[in-house]
Amino acid sequence: MARRILAAGNWKMNKTPSETKALIAEMRKTCASDSVDVLLCVPAIDIPAAVEAAAGSNIQIGAENMYFEENGAYTGEISPAMLVDAGAKYVILGHSERRDYFGETSEDVNKKMKKAFEHNLIPVMCCGESLTQREQGITMDWIRQQVKVGFQDLTADQAKTAIIAYEPIWAIGTGKTATSDQAEEVCKGIRDLIRELYGAEVAEEIRILYGGSVKPANAAELFAKEDIDGGLVGGASLKPDFGDIVNYSK
Ligand code: 13P
Repeated sequence: MARRILAAGNWKMNKTPSETKALIAEMRKTCASDSVDVLLCVPAIDIPAAVEAAAGSNIQIGAENMYFEENGAYTGEISPAMLVDAGAKYVILGHSERRDYFGETSEDVNKKMKKAFEHNLIPVMCCGESLTQREQGITMDWIRQQVKVGFQDLTADQAKTAIIAYEPIWAIGTGKTATSDQAEEVCKGIRDLIRELYGAEVAEEIRILYGGSVKPANAAELFAKEDIDGGLVGGASLKPDFGDIVNYSK
């Protein structure tokens, strides 16, 4: 079965609940599609508004982060059960901004991956190299390490349900997109690693996204690559024209 393209938005720390309602009301029209899956990952406090605004449409709602404990004295954290109860179906884990600004390690990400599956949340696990790492020629070693640790102890069934987003840090929010060949090279490398770890069937099924300055002008070229199954989109997912990425082939 061919992998369906997924156009996923990551709103980061943008939009209030009221703004969320208004924006998704627009996106219901612009993001309609029979052939592409659409996901908006929004701030936790926006999830109920997003779920309500997207009800009955093709837009699915996810979170941007969660903690790996069930509940307890973790002031300010959000548990997986809270996300599920609010209506989230997906959760981004290990975004480079979480790793860089909030000190998340791949071991933390692994704990979150396992916890997400316990609650039937589909994780979108991010990985990506810095510009220095790319210049040092260690991109693939670094990514393999992030994915191996992030996926530690996941079963094959979990691995094929998970989504991986390759996001080179130097391409995030910079307007500097990786070329489609650079993006494909790493996404293929990730699929090769999944094949080594889990075999051919899981490698064929798992969806691997590219993220980093994806916009309507470059989506078609990126998504046409064999190992790129869609995009994780930051800035360009904050406007109704996110629909031009969803409908990249039209
Ligand atoms: P931009 O699309 O704004 O570069 O952000 C990418 C990203 O970090 C998505 O998770």
